[in-house]
Amino acid sequence: QLSTSKSIWNETNVRDCFPGRKPDDHKGTHGKGLVIGGCTEMPGALSMTLKAALRAGAGLITGATSEHVINRIASTNVEATYAVLSTTDGFINNDSKVNVQDYDAIALGMGMGRKAFTSELVRDVVSEANCPIIIDGDGLHHIQPYLTSLKRRKSPTIMTPHPREMAMLLGANVNEILVEPFRYASEFARKFDVYLVLKGMYSIITSPEGKQSVNMTGNPGLAKGGSGDVLTGIILAMIMQRQDMFDAICNACYVHGKSADLLIKHQHSHHDLLASDVIDGIANVYRTIS
Ligand code: APR
Ligand code: MG
Repeated sequence: QLSTSKSIWNETNVRDCFPGRKPDDHKGTHGKGLVIGGCTEMPGALSMTLKAALRAGAGLITGATSEHVINRIASTNVEATYAVLSTTDGFINNDSKVNVQDYDAIALGMGMGRKAFTSELVRDVVSEANCPIIIDGDGLHHIQPYLTSLKRRKSPTIMTPHPREMAMLLGANVNEILVEPFRYASEFARKFDVYLVLKGMYSIITSPEGKQSVNMTGNPGLAKGGSGDVLTGIILAMIMQRQDMFDAICNACYVHGKSADLLIKHQHSHHDLLASDVIDGIANVYRTIS
């Protein structure tokens, strides 16, 4: 099923375009990222995205969330900074303005919940920010009725649905998508002018022009809550390094899966692997490719 326009993103691809570090680099060269999400019931999602982005190489990371979530996660994410957002019933609302212009890239949605008032915040960030934005998890639910607004964005939009989220975005049946994932992904990415990562055992990365690659790293150890939040953090860090957008997203998917693969080989099992281990395992991948 794979033709030249749909190829497997392998280790050679990663080595060919993996961003290096220069002796005179400083934190500004490695990107200033913003992660918006979290709620009282899901503080861990935001925490994992923050930590994954920092481990994956971001220079500065800010978490924008409720004061309650900040108080719960700050002690385990000491390298991150925070922006306090106003809330209703523990869910972030649109009353406090996030200064989106201060950042090189934004990740939006992890663990933010699906309250209607949070949709306004998502919509405003998407329309006001002039930098690349990754929309994941609950953020995908909020943006679904406003997908056409993504075409007006001047900077790249990256969406990272798993198959059920893809079905929700399309208003289609998940089984139809699983039969023809390449076609659904390609049509969606072109129609809404987005980079799409359709996640799964193999993840399909599609550019807004319809270019497709498949990531084959990863294993069932990743089939656990939090793995997706970690991937979003790695993508956030990668797109802020010096590299092409499509390559950066493919590299991020590769690193995420490869971290899990190396951990399964040397330290963990499919059963016990946790998303946090995958963050720590990024080191094993980077030490061999960079
Ligand atoms: N093989 C390889 N990779 C896998 C496998 C597998 N068997 N299973 C999962 N993965 C990878 C996917 O490719 C993806 O990168 O793990 C990641 C899982 O991401 P999500 O499905 O977004 O999972 P996550 O958000 O962490 O947790 C579950 O999904 O159903 C929703 O609302 C639910 O918030 C919950 C979330
Ligand atoms: Mg998810």
